[in-house]
Amino acid sequence: MGKIIAVANQKGGVGKTTTVVNLAAYLGFRDKKVLCIDADPQGNSTTAFGIKKKGVSASTYDVLIGKARIQDAIIETEFKNLSVVPATENLAGVEIELLNMENRVNRLKMQLLPIKDSYDYIFIDCPPALGSLTINALVACDSIIVPMLAEFFALEGLSQLVNTIKIVKNNYNPSLDIEGILFTMFDSRLKIANDVVAEVEKYFPGKVFETKIPRNVRISEAPSHGKPIMYYDKGSKGNDSYTLLGLEVLGEPLVLPQKKRRGIFNFKK
Ligand SMILES: Nc1ncnc2c1ncn2[C@@H]1O[C@H](COP(=O)(O)OP(=O)(O)OP(=O)(O)O)[C@@H](O)[C@H]1O
Ligand SMILES: [Mg+2]
Repeated sequence: MGKIIAVANQKGGVGKTTTVVNLAAYLGFRDKKVLCIDADPQGNSTTAFGIKKKGVSASTYDVLIGKARIQDAIIETEFKNLSVVPATENLAGVEIELLNMENRVNRLKMQLLPIKDSYDYIFIDCPPALGSLTINALVACDSIIVPMLAEFFALEGLSQLVNTIKIVKNNYNPSLDIEGILFTMFDSRLKIANDVVAEVEKYFPGKVFETKIPRNVRISEAPSHGKPIMYYDKGSKGNDSYTLLGLEVLGEPLVLPQKKRRGIFNFKK
């Protein structure tokens, strides 16, 4: 059975898109069939998968307003087992258009029902807001990954998100679960970072991913090349961290595949 995971946090720039793109790529590489829905008008995950928005004929916008079936909006990427429903700028108008429509919070869920079991994982990249797009994602999903920064203000944002999750759970999606809280751009040398992790672990026992994603410049470069980190720089720390996150999601031991230690025993006279 397919699992739908929304990656959400109303705070901007916390690594939602980066997490969708790189986790999806790893799971696809591991022979899982993966679909990513870009539910953000910025269309960042669309671009990060190397898809040109100009060539897009049907997008998340068309799917939500019922102009296209989701099957007709799916684009296969050049990466293994990985497809995308792209987003373009017109998605920004959907919040207002949905106001007058029936079932406005259920629209993504309805579209996903017939295709859910054709995939092992479906990720939804949410925008930095708690509007109709994020609500549609929370109603449609089985679980949520919450990327966050280990900063003081992040805690305030988290309680707002948790409230929204509660409302959605009580009204529309009783089995909604937190898959995990993921610390991104993490610097373990900072006391505040470790304090914030301890605080979040106290309130969400067992829900904080053991894997922390460090700040890594290769991760931030990869989208401009239209590639997930594992296809851009396999040897980077960034790739190691998203590999470990992938293993954690799969429930496998957190052991990295052996790296070739080139040159070390390779003496030349
Ligand atoms: N681990 C990391 N190391 C270095 N840079 C990172 C890392 N994770 C994300 N970034 C960079 O930080 C910026 C924000 O990341 P990202 O776009 O994934 O966040 P987001 O939560 O999706 O943002 P938005 O709310 O605007 O959708 C991007 O420029 C991204 O390349
Ligand atoms: Mg984003």
